[in-house]
Amino acid sequence: MKNLSHLFEKNRVWAASIKERDPEFFSDLSKQQAPEILWIGCSDSRVPANQIIDLPPGEVFVHRNIANVVVHTDLNCLSVIHFAVDVLKVKHIIICGHYDCGGIRAAMEDMELGLIDNWLRHIKDVGRFHAEKLAVLDGQEKQDLLCELNVLEQVRNVSNTTIVKNARKNGAELSIHGWVYSIKNGILKDLCIDNTSCEES
Ligand code: CO
Repeated sequence: MKNLSHLFEKNRVWAASIKERDPEFFSDLSKQQAPEILWIGCSDSRVPANQIIDLPPGEVFVHRNIANVVVHTDLNCLSVIHFAVDVLKVKHIIICGHYDCGGIRAAMEDMELGLIDNWLRHIKDVGRFHAEKLAVLDGQEKQDLLCELNVLEQVRNVSNTTIVKNARKNGAELSIHGWVYSIKNGILKDLCIDNTSCEES
């Protein structure tokens, strides 16, 4: 069996390079984390949260699953949101989808993949909610729009959690952003779903 010693080697080089620039980096970080951002994104290996927005360890609290879905009864995702909002007091929740998402494509093309089909039902529901808008498109355009609409729906789902509603009721400053990332050029697009948080035109 091939071991993964090369990864430990890469890890040592990485840790040493950070310590060279900032000798106290890890000891400071070990005392606390105070990220201002909760990132909810896709598990896709091409969409790594910290790297895309070029932020170091300690800056982003992260939850990822297939097709960046926030399900009302998903205790895993809800626990992450709860901890981020109530304990870490993050100021921003970013739902980041991406174009050419395999989960979105599988849901759109009705592919049969097994267990994951049940998870992707949530994406099919998004397609059903927006059937009229999607019906006039096909191919790549349709898939791209479904990626965006999925982000829109997940922003709604996050906003409707008791966690976010109660935090806002108690005066928390919390912006929820809907973004889409292009794996073709590495560029993020703000869907400007939350009027208070449009980053680009
Ligand atoms: Co994806």
